[in-house]
Amino acid sequence: MSYINENFLELQESYLFSTIAKKVAKYTEENPDKKVIKLGIGDVTRPLPKSCIEAMHKAVDEMGISEEFKGYGPEQGYEFLRKAIVENDYKSRGIDIAEDEIFVSDGAKCDTGNIVDIFAKDNVVAITDPVYPVYLDTNVMSGRSGKFNLQQGTYENIVYLPVMAENDFKPELPKQKVDMIYLCFPNNPTGTVLNKEELKKWVEYAKENHSIILYDSAYEAFITEDDIPHSIYEVEGAKDVAIEFRSFSKTAGFTGVRCGYVVIPKTVKGYTKEGKEISYNQLWNRRTCTKFNGASYIVQRAAEAVYSEEGQKQIKENIDYYMENAKIIREGLEEAGITYYGGVNAPYVWLKVPEGKTSWEFFDTLLQDMNVVGTPGSGFGPHGEGYFRLTAFGTKENTIKAMERIKSKGC
Ligand code: MLT
Repeated sequence: MSYINENFLELQESYLFSTIAKKVAKYTEENPDKKVIKLGIGDVTRPLPKSCIEAMHKAVDEMGISEEFKGYGPEQGYEFLRKAIVENDYKSRGIDIAEDEIFVSDGAKCDTGNIVDIFAKDNVVAITDPVYPVYLDTNVMSGRSGKFNLQQGTYENIVYLPVMAENDFKPELPKQKVDMIYLCFPNNPTGTVLNKEELKKWVEYAKENHSIILYDSAYEAFITEDDIPHSIYEVEGAKDVAIEFRSFSKTAGFTGVRCGYVVIPKTVKGYTKEGKEISYNQLWNRRTCTKFNGASYIVQRAAEAVYSEEGQKQIKENIDYYMENAKIIREGLEEAGITYYGGVNAPYVWLKVPEGKTSWEFFDTLLQDMNVVGTPGSGFGPHGEGYFRLTAFGTKENTIKAMERIKSKGC
């Protein structure tokens, strides 16, 4: 007889974005004449930058020539890409990261999910609430969550750090000792940020408590204000306590192409039960070699092209386009008299659901009455209740239309 991993039975319903997709599919099937605008999942709509397309064409051609054909590549990523990352994402900001501290992958979702492999099962995990569901679900799957409390909507062993209007969306340091801390800034889903001083508190906490910060900076390219850190390593000492996740998905429109990377400085250490220090870089490298054969060569060439002069210009145009959408959303909500947060340094706008409705009720109203899809805040955790997320990744035309509908129908 084979036994299942019973941790999976602790997961709640289906994955948030699958639930939404199912609801929307049902609605469109029943109402084929309605033109539904999707501002739910953060999926990009702009075509890939020309530089990336050209780089991929060239790489495809190489694959057809026997002298240049590539089979398995290095599991950790090709040197050309790791070098480009080090130079452009870190050295340019005065951060010293070595090439062998970069691990290229097929996306940050996989990395933030897979990273749990290298941590002990009895580590205490802290997440912000609301949160990108992958951090929580993967800890549930790997047995770190304990039982779900239906009344509270929380897991017994997870430490929840509320982020809400009352604390200006800045999580407070945990009262108890935690071992693994997930932080995502610019934040998904709230679209809010921490400045360097605020982030420093977390680095200090992690140092004092020998904890690890798992820092997701997938949205750093959308930062528009000068004093907001793009990388946690801009904070002194972070290289001893933080693992950083980056993605080409939103920065360069790679949601369907798939490429990201994780940075694990060799100075980031964990402990055995006997107190022996072990480098997480070494563990992740071992795991990567066993479980991954590297991201595709063609895709890595496309990622490299992001860093070319032309590539940088082209991704900036796309990012500006999305941030213009964020402005359209913010202004529309303002006119509709709806309170909102975020959307200045992030492609997400987090709005307050009008009094008297839950997040899911608001989702239904928006879908049925205005044919606009967003993401209910409660789907990201109990402190997301009463909030709702709109993404700026739609087309400009659809974003304008969606806001017109919201303004004219009222909520
Ligand atoms: C989101 O909508 O939160 C993201 O697109 C999900 C993801 O990046 O996996």
